[in-house]
Amino acid sequence: MSLPAGSTIGIIGGGQLGRMLAMAAARLGYRTVVLEPQADCPAAQVANRQITAAYDDPAALAELAAVSAVVTYEFENVPVAAAEALAARVPVYPPVRALDVAQDRVGEKKFLNGIGIATADFRSVDTDDDLTAALKAFGGSGILKTRRMGYDGKGQRVFRKMEAGGFAGTCEAMGNVPLILESFVPFEREISVIAARGLDGAVTAYDPAENVHRNGILHTSTLPAAINSKTADAARAAAGKILSALDYVGVIGVEFFVLADGSLLANEIAPRVHNSGHWTEAACTISQFEQHIRAVAGLPLGSPGRHSDCVMENLIGDDVLRGPALLAEPDLILHLYGKAEARPGRKMGHFTRISRRP
Ligand SMILES: Nc1ncnc2c1ncn2[C@@H]1O[C@H](COP(=O)(O)OP(=O)(O)O)[C@@H](O)[C@H]1O
Ligand SMILES: [Mg+2]
Repeated sequence: MSLPAGSTIGIIGGGQLGRMLAMAAARLGYRTVVLEPQADCPAAQVANRQITAAYDDPAALAELAAVSAVVTYEFENVPVAAAEALAARVPVYPPVRALDVAQDRVGEKKFLNGIGIATADFRSVDTDDDLTAALKAFGGSGILKTRRMGYDGKGQRVFRKMEAGGFAGTCEAMGNVPLILESFVPFEREISVIAARGLDGAVTAYDPAENVHRNGILHTSTLPAAINSKTADAARAAAGKILSALDYVGVIGVEFFVLADGSLLANEIAPRVHNSGHWTEAACTISQFEQHIRAVAGLPLGSPGRHSDCVMENLIGDDVLRGPALLAEPDLILHLYGKAEARPGRKMGHFTRISRRP
């Protein structure tokens, strides 16, 4: 059964993804309430209402459940206990299990391997001795990451060859939190697939985007990706497998490394709309944001078809000053997030240049 227009959708998290979800929800006739501790957040600027409280505040969660017909979220670090408390009172999509899987890089890789999707080799690392052993096993190079809460390349350290002098103090320098060492993947390119699963189990996927990162932050997503159709199909199929295994409802982002032979290793999953899917608002009839709202509202999914080739570029920090000049270009869609302060490394907006097909 689908959510009647005029119903309220709760959104946990008030960043730009929540903002774009709220805008898509409004276009389908829904109201939105955003739970976010930071006042005047990007999402609340376009939502009907903000509950200004911590994501795990029991009274705020009870209020969100009381006013929402369904609750979704815009970031994967929503506390699992909070999502479970909500789910006892109101449908929460994507399902809490997706949060649980995506929050821990070790659990995520075990889940992926368990359903037959290959990833980089990995070892859990809790001590400097664990790190020494794991690096030895990987021939001296690898990427050490915090298991939880990492984003935009934060909480990562690259080892390119065994360093003399051992690794005493590394775990402390990483904050004495559980870590993972991943073998270094000599990828040819990175791609991602934005896919969706409806309440009725229908699955759709957009074309894979080719992603370039700068300083650990997504810089551009380009469509089409320079991959053959076999690789593209394999990426779509893997995303579909993940959605079914999680009994998922909503949009998911799945990042992959493409190796020289065209084979894929899954990097990570994001149980939400994804930065590498922002191009869909410009080059598709149905954006990832609308697709997500359709899914969680129990509406039919839209076609993921792409009418144009395109390149999406993020505006980080002062890049946002390029806005007015960019708008002088034809066939360019600019999207700003309403953030007051352009701090270095902060995602302030993005734009997508489309090139129409003849
Ligand atoms: N095992 C790996 N081998 C090679 N490059 C990697 C590996 N893991 C991550 N990277 C590079 O670092 C980027 C960020 O890592 P990722 O695990 O996606 O973390 P985040 O959560 O910060 O996006 C990736 O997009 C990729 O460019
Ligand atoms: Mg990533």
